[in-house]
Amino acid sequence: MASGNHKAKLSIIGAGNVGSHVAVYAAGKDLADIVLLDQNADKARGTGLDITQAMAMANIDRVVTGTGDYAATAGSDVVVITAGLARKPGMSRDDLLEANAGIVQAVTREAVRHSPGCILVVVTNPVNTMAQLAYEVSGLPRERVIGVSGVLDSARFKAFIAEELSVGASRVDAVVLGDHGAQMVPLVDHCQVNGVPIGNLMSPERIAAIVERVRHGGSEIVNLLKTGSAYYAPGTATVELLECILKDRQVTIPCAVYLEGEYGVDGLYVGVPALIGAAGVEKVIQLNLSATEQRDFDLSVVHIRERLDTLRANTRA
Ligand code: LAC
Repeated sequence: MASGNHKAKLSIIGAGNVGSHVAVYAAGKDLADIVLLDQNADKARGTGLDITQAMAMANIDRVVTGTGDYAATAGSDVVVITAGLARKPGMSRDDLLEANAGIVQAVTREAVRHSPGCILVVVTNPVNTMAQLAYEVSGLPRERVIGVSGVLDSARFKAFIAEELSVGASRVDAVVLGDHGAQMVPLVDHCQVNGVPIGNLMSPERIAAIVERVRHGGSEIVNLLKTGSAYYAPGTATVELLECILKDRQVTIPCAVYLEGEYGVDGLYVGVPALIGAAGVEKVIQLNLSATEQRDFDLSVVHIRERLDTLRANTRA
C-alpha cells in the first residue's frame, strides 16, 4: 500500500461540489496524484486544470487529471465515490435512496474493475446504505469499503458546542455514531470540553437543543443554500479519512463500517468509531455506551435496516 508514498493514486468519482472540494483539499495536503472523473468529462477536465494550476501556484507538485474515462482511474490506491444527487430544500437524505442506489452500484462496478486493490470511500447519501451497496457490489473485504458520516457530524457537534461555550472547537471532544440523518446519535455522555463533561457546563435544555441542531445540521445548510447541500465540511471530512489511510495514521475516527457482531449488529453499515490506517478499517472500537446512548443507537440501527429493506423491496419489485 502506498502510505506516505509519493506515488499514491487517488481517484474521485463525481466532480460536483463535494468531489471537487475533496480534490482540492487532498491535492493541497499533497496526499496523492488525483484523477477526477465525471460523466460530464469537460467539467472534470476544467476542474482538474483549475486545481492543478492552483497547486502550481502553491508549489505543490500534484496534478489533478480530469476525465470521463474509468481507464484513467486504473490502479488507484483509494477511490472516493461522491457521484449521485444531492438534496434540495425539503428533501431528506432518504429521498435520494433509489436514484443514488443505481448510480453507486454502477460506479462501484466500474471503479473496482479498474482498481481491484483499492480502498473504496463512499460519500454519496444516504451514506450507510450506499456504503452497503458498494460493499456488496464490489466483493471487497469490509476493511476496504468505508462510508464518510460520523467525522462530519462530529465536527458539527464540536462547532455548536464551541459556539455555545465560546471556546475553540479544538477543545471539544465530541463523537456522533449511528445513521447520518435525523436518527444520528451524538454521544452526549461521552462529550467533554477540556476534559470536563458537557453535563457540568450547560443545562440539559441547551444540550438537547444542540443535539437537535446536529441532527439537522445538513438540512440547515441545504435550506440556506437552496440549490444543493453542504460541501466544505463534507469535503474536509472525506479528506480527514483519506489522510488516515494514505498516511497510515492509525487514528480512531467515526465512520460507516460493515459490522459483524460489534455493537450487537450483524451485516449492516453503521457509524461507529474505527481505527483507520493503510489497510482501511484496521479495527472497530467498542465504546461503552450509556443507557441513553445505547437506546438511541439501537433506534438508529433500526432506521438504517428499514431503509435498506425498503430499497431491496422496491428494487426487486
Ligand atoms: C450533509 C450532507 C452532505 O450532512 O449529508 O451536509
